[in-house]
Amino acid sequence: MGGHRTILTYGRHLWLKLGMGLIALSCAAYVWHEPIGGPNGGSWLGYTLGIVGAGLIGWLTWFGVRKRQHGRAGPPLQAWLSAHVHLGLALAVIATLHTGFQFGPNIHTLAWALMMGTIGSGVVGVAVYLTLPRIQTANLRGRALTDVLQEVATVDVELRRASRDVDDELNRWVQHSDGHCKVGGGLFTQLRGPNVSCANDEALTAIQVLVSDDRHRESQAVRQLLSLLSRKSRLLSQARREVQLRAWLRLWLFAHVPLTFALLVALAGHVLSVFFFW
Ligand code: HEM
Ligand code: HEM
Repeated sequence: MGGHRTILTYGRHLWLKLGMGLIALSCAAYVWHEPIGGPNGGSWLGYTLGIVGAGLIGWLTWFGVRKRQHGRAGPPLQAWLSAHVHLGLALAVIATLHTGFQFGPNIHTLAWALMMGTIGSGVVGVAVYLTLPRIQTANLRGRALTDVLQEVATVDVELRRASRDVDDELNRWVQHSDGHCKVGGGLFTQLRGPNVSCANDEALTAIQVLVSDDRHRESQAVRQLLSLLSRKSRLLSQARREVQLRAWLRLWLFAHVPLTFALLVALAGHVLSVFFFW
């Protein structure tokens, strides 16, 4: 079979099959099982599904630790992530069957909702992981971010050289662009990407207006200046877009990880309360 190997199909669909198998098994047991008083977390199947669910949550959380143990022997991170995704999806079914669909305004349902939220954010994360690299490559045309920033520096040198042959007013605009064009910054600036006000764009527009108002100013040097400023503008947009994509990626983990911790707290509350107060 040709086609792309992604984390979703890792190891000849091993984890996909295992996740599907777990889902099928728990659904079959749920349909077959007829506990007194209807399906609920307190029947033997209910306990089994609950314990398997809690075990899976512990194991899925462990991924955060495993991810940071670089150079450790064992399966590669891709295998871990593939397993994480498919078993995480199976968890949605296993834990939901555990509840017997007895939802209400209580800590048990809160734990379930936080779990579904964590899983939902995981799905968004996978979609991001699978599409982002292609968008990044297309944006930077295969170059690294440092290459693009290096190109900006080269254009700056050429701009300084070209600005010697134009009048003072135009020269001031070139200086305005030089050194005032940051890529990145605070989180909000990063997330806005190319949609930030930029000294280089201001300089480009100002010079275009000045030249179109007074055609006599147009010269070979000015045309070169405009072409360099446009090129710098394009490069800055590409660099800011890359920084923007990376920032959104980090922001996604800001949802997945805190949801995980909130889930662990609510789950502890759920298990303690069924043992001590039921
Ligand atoms: C060690 C693992 C677990 C144990 C021992 C356990 C135990 C129980 C028990 C005994 C019940 C029945 C309570 C009743 O019928 O009144 C129950 C219900 C429930 N469990 Fe769990 N559970 C576990 C894991 C989970 C997990 C992982 C979730 C989801 C995140 C979850 C969510 C729920 C919900 C929403 C209910 C229904 C609550 C209700 O009946 O009002 N449980 N659980
Ligand atoms: C309740 C279930 C889940 C829990 C508790 C959980 C927990 C975690 C944790 C702790 C991390 C490590 C994050 C870090 O420290 O950087 C992580 C990463 C991740 N999870 Fe989940 N997860 C769950 C379900 C899912 C699901 C269902 C998916 C996908 C469908 C998913 C996709 C991911 C992805 C893509 C990563 C990032 C891997 C990376 O940074 O390289 N998760 N998860």
